[in-house]
Amino acid sequence: MLRDLKILTVTHKSASLKEIRDFVIKPSDDFPLQSQLGNLKEVFELKELLYIATCNRVIYFFISESELSISFATQFFQHINPDLNENRIAAATQLLEGTDAIAHLYEVAASIDSLVVGERQILGQLREAYDQCHAWGLTGDTIRLAFQQMVVAAKEVYARTRIGDKPVSVVSLAVRKMLSTHLPKDARILLIGAGQTNALVAKFLAKQEFANVTVFNRSLQKAEELAKLLEGKANTLTNIFEYKEGFDCLFVCTGSTDPIIQPELYEQLLQGETDTKIVIDLAIPHNVAPEVIENYNIQYIEIEGLRTLAQENLAFRETEVEKARQILANYVAEFPTLFKQRQLERAMSRVPEEIKAVKAKALSEVFRKDVEQLDASTRELLEKMLTYMEKKCIAVPMKVAREMVG
Ligand SMILES: NC(=O)c1ccc[n+]([C@@H]2O[C@H](COP(=O)([O-])OP(=O)(O)OC[C@H]3O[C@@H](n4cnc5c(N)ncnc54)[C@H](OP(=O)(O)O)[C@@H]3O)[C@@H](O)[C@H]2O)c1
Repeated sequence: MLRDLKILTVTHKSASLKEIRDFVIKPSDDFPLQSQLGNLKEVFELKELLYIATCNRVIYFFISESELSISFATQFFQHINPDLNENRIAAATQLLEGTDAIAHLYEVAASIDSLVVGERQILGQLREAYDQCHAWGLTGDTIRLAFQQMVVAAKEVYARTRIGDKPVSVVSLAVRKMLSTHLPKDARILLIGAGQTNALVAKFLAKQEFANVTVFNRSLQKAEELAKLLEGKANTLTNIFEYKEGFDCLFVCTGSTDPIIQPELYEQLLQGETDTKIVIDLAIPHNVAPEVIENYNIQYIEIEGLRTLAQENLAFRETEVEKARQILANYVAEFPTLFKQRQLERAMSRVPEEIKAVKAKALSEVFRKDVEQLDASTRELLEKMLTYMEKKCIAVPMKVAREMVG
């Protein structure tokens, strides 16, 4: 049933980016993400599950006959994080089912629900999440159908509106803020982390022709890739304490769940300098320890603080958001029919096999003796007639069923 499509989600609209982390699955060596999702699916008897976690939302999209209520959401999230209480869960969670769930998914994909509206990166993140959950056997036919339509709908929004014009992202907003400080092009910039986010930072820095960048990363190879783009230097994170050249601006963005920039390291990086340093922390949870922000002369830029810039961006795109909503509304309205058709196709998929089996049984068992007495040309005619009947018997009920749904 359509109402079996359900979403539990926590987004930047109802929680701070830090709070969202409490609703996200925390993988560990003993209990990796795949096993945790498998466990969730089993415990809550979900028929299918798609898990999407980005820096400004977490979505659990699943197929289940259970009633979607605060009590269900509480059990669900307390299974993920026992420290969450019912009040926090009720305040932060959106519960959606049926076409409301579909509409939400489409709005996320078209980036009209994003912190930074028009940020196309989200579509790539959704694809990655889907591919992963699909490869792990968590999704099935219904999520596949919803996801496929979501991609078509989002692409139409990007093609027919100007929502993605002058593309913006959390990274571009952060770089814009950094540029507003008028750093000289030869400013000493440190890039800590070399994942997707800092790769985007590196592209912006290269475009702005910053020429004195050093990249530190856990693995050297990725640091070298970014350093090459910037004609800068690369080093591993383990060697960072040996760095003695000071800095003017520091970008830090890694997947570490503990702050990387601790007072001891920060002191070492400063090399005794006392002027204001620009520190840009795009990681969630943050990679700069609170003591560093409190005790040093820092202009600190982080994602949550970019909300104001994001609001300005939204004002610029408001008319496009309205157009996007209209396009998506048509796709959402189409979904129930598509869903029914697909249910029917699945139910009907057995029909051809069963009719073939009836024909084979008629020839080899029920009328075997009569058929054996026929001459070759009559037998050939009989076979032709039965094949004709077989095709019609398959096509007719399919056609009637489609007409009933359409
Ligand atoms: N993707 C986005 O749209 C986006 C936007 C804003 C903020 N963020 C936030 O940015 C952070 C990184 O995201 P991403 O998409 O760039 O990740 P990513 O592509 O998966 O890269 C992760 C980076 O963090 C490093 N890393 C992971 N665990 C580490 C640890 N324990 N200690 C030190 N380094 C570690 C990795 O080093 P190796 O190369 O050695 O693995 C890699 O450089 C996350 O906090 C995310 O929430 C993401």
